[in-house]
Amino acid sequence: MSALVMNEFKVLKEKNPLFVIDAIIQRHNVDPGAAIPILQDIQNAFGYVAPEVLERVSELTGIWASELYSIVTFYSQFRMEPIGENLIQVCHGTACHLAGAEKITEALQHETGARGGGTSPDGKFTLEKVACLGCCSLAPVITVNEETFGRLTPAAVGKVIGEVRKGKSDCAHDALVCGGGCSNG
Ligand code: FES
Repeated sequence: MSALVMNEFKVLKEKNPLFVIDAIIQRHNVDPGAAIPILQDIQNAFGYVAPEVLERVSELTGIWASELYSIVTFYSQFRMEPIGENLIQVCHGTACHLAGAEKITEALQHETGARGGGTSPDGKFTLEKVACLGCCSLAPVITVNEETFGRLTPAAVGKVIGEVRKGKSDCAHDALVCGGGCSNG
């Protein structure tokens, strides 16, 4: 979704969140075959797909709400609850699994108070388990708000979370590799 469209949705959201749903469905020409792209756009606009939104999509597209619900619960890309201030994706692909993704997950849960796939009680962090992030040579890898951290250790996780809590975005740790993304899998 382009920045322009996101901006338009932001303005509509401030007026009435339902206007955004209507605009998204219009963009897809009320096409019943566009259920997944519609739900993806809704998640991009709101950060999650609220169950009550499904009724509205159903009304406007003619797709059964139960079918929409099945899609949202079947595909792991969708979430039905709001995310915290910081989204942490923990790679559990093969390379990261072998390099200790479970230990990294435990350290993240300990540092943030969030459970896997859940949000910390203070609303600051959401942990999400994901498949390969495309930078296996840096395993184990996480992303924090789309910034990549690789060759992590449980101790380094504490440093990363500490910096995020302080609102720092620089990530000049000796033991870490970070950047806007990676493509050197
Ligand atoms: S398996 Fe984790 S980045 Fe590829």
